[in-house]
Amino acid sequence: MKGVILAGGKGTRLDPLTRVINKHLLPIGPYPMIYWPIRRLKQAGISQILIITNREDIESFKKVLGSGEQWGVNLFYQIQNQKGGGIADALACAKDFVDDKFVVLLGDNLFDENLRPMIEEFYKEDYKAKILLKEVRDPERYGVVSFDKNTHSIHSIVEKPKNPPSKYCVTGIYLYDVDVFNVIQELEPSPRGEKEITDLNNYYIKRNELSYDVLKEWWLDAGTHESLYKANQHYYEEIHDTR
Ligand code: G1P
Repeated sequence: MKGVILAGGKGTRLDPLTRVINKHLLPIGPYPMIYWPIRRLKQAGISQILIITNREDIESFKKVLGSGEQWGVNLFYQIQNQKGGGIADALACAKDFVDDKFVVLLGDNLFDENLRPMIEEFYKEDYKAKILLKEVRDPERYGVVSFDKNTHSIHSIVEKPKNPPSKYCVTGIYLYDVDVFNVIQELEPSPRGEKEITDLNNYYIKRNELSYDVLKEWWLDAGTHESLYKANQHYYEEIHDTR
């Protein structure tokens, strides 16, 4: 299986840090943020990884990460269609890279879970998409599921709801079948003009083609100043503990 990391976007919630540095290259512990999701893919047995980012940032990524040899992976790079086109629009750029079920990570999602069991499960099941959820205290910041834990079925996902239907957010860890590129092509942009990843996942929910799992270990979206600080704290503690 191959992996795709989405590392474009504007990073407005991290202004002014992101005025000259792409969010995913900001330091977390002794490495740029994107190092951590790469490490998780490698741990899950995925070594062919495509990084999709903005035109103006691609050379910086290549300079820092190179071929990936140093990290034990093979890295490929792709410029995203259009900055601000939405997560699903950026994902569309992976079309020529994948030829089978694959994993997508948002490059600002940092987590401790080993994804291998979930990936293996998705490979065997008939579902065309899988999302990973996490119970959080502030679900209104994320995509949130309305679901029935007993029957293990998701009714829908609502993006950044004022009244969250549950405490479970949709993390930026997704698994898809190659069919996803046809679906993205048909997807209508949202009122803010973006092809939303939530609309894509809701498409699969409506067709009963989406499965889910829940992360048990630490997870964080490092897209704000406070969470960037928390991520640094987490990784420095980890480094300290393993010394
Ligand atoms: C995006 C998704 C959201 C998801 C989150 C996870 O939000 O739109 O559904 O819960 O990533 O990190 P963003 O961080 O781009 O606002």
